[in-house]
Amino acid sequence: MILKGMVSVLTGAGRINSIGAATARILAKNGSHVVINCLNSRLQAEQVVSECASHGVSSELFVGDITDVDVCKSLATFVKDKFGKVDTIVNCVGSTHPAPYEKLELLTASDFMKVFSSNVIGPYLIAQAFQPLLKASKIASITNVSSTAALTGISSSIAYATAKGAENSLTLALAQALSPEVRVNVVCPSFVDSSWWEIPFKDKQEKYEALLQTMKEKNLLNRVIKPEDVALAIFSVIQNPVMTGEIIRLDAGAHIGKSNSR
Ligand SMILES: NC(=O)c1ccc[n+]([C@@H]2O[C@H](COP(=O)([O-])OP(=O)(O)OC[C@H]3O[C@@H](n4cnc5c(N)ncnc54)[C@H](OP(=O)(O)O)[C@@H]3O)[C@@H](O)[C@H]2O)c1
Repeated sequence: MILKGMVSVLTGAGRINSIGAATARILAKNGSHVVINCLNSRLQAEQVVSECASHGVSSELFVGDITDVDVCKSLATFVKDKFGKVDTIVNCVGSTHPAPYEKLELLTASDFMKVFSSNVIGPYLIAQAFQPLLKASKIASITNVSSTAALTGISSSIAYATAKGAENSLTLALAQALSPEVRVNVVCPSFVDSSWWEIPFKDKQEKYEALLQTMKEKNLLNRVIKPEDVALAIFSVIQNPVMTGEIIRLDAGAHIGKSNSR
């Protein structure tokens, strides 16, 4: 697939060490124009935008909450006015509400709704807003970023695992709904050493180092997954013309488990 001149929109891609920013960099390096969406991380996003622009492509910032239908419509209008088309969307947007599994009373309906909004409703509203533009492209795709939590039920919160499961189902449903013009896939990484952990582990560097070590030991490759590793998987999905409705697990072999002899 020729990426030069294509237009890519990435939601939740503003933080420097995020999966979205790593994906934007690969896309820009390969000649795609990029539109970076963020919500609170404007300063970091401006840096990501200028890094992408250094590859000689158009690189734009759109700040807004993609759980709001009007914001999604404005984003689609912004992209249409600027480029006249869109070829690929990567939804990296997501949030969690950490809560111990055994204490159901600590996770309220409102917490649940917020987590659902960013992980599921947002990507749905983006698909809705961009549907006409995507259908006009000859190489259209949407790639969602979910989590292995969707496959195992294990995460920081029951709401997050459930929402990521729903994001996987949304992917399958949209692959049906938008075919044959638009391919829709989802990548499910396990732990990624990204900006996701910056706030929960602020001023807890030692604890974070211990977590990295634990994560490393869990998989067959003895390594920690980086945003660039996930970006490579997304990049490959974007380019494959027969891939749609796929749920791609990315956990460095952790799902197989380590045999006792090793
Ligand atoms: N890191 C991991 O271990 C891991 C593992 C599995 C799956 N994932 C998934 O991978 C995706 C990307 O995460 P990441 O690791 O790159 O961390 P991240 O930098 O925290 O990415 C998530 C981004 O979502 C954005 N966001 C949240 N709500 C939003 C909204 N309503 N509208 C617009 N943007 C919103 C945040 O933007 P602002 O900062 O601008 O507010 C944030 O930058 C997420 O969906 C996450 O669930 C991460």
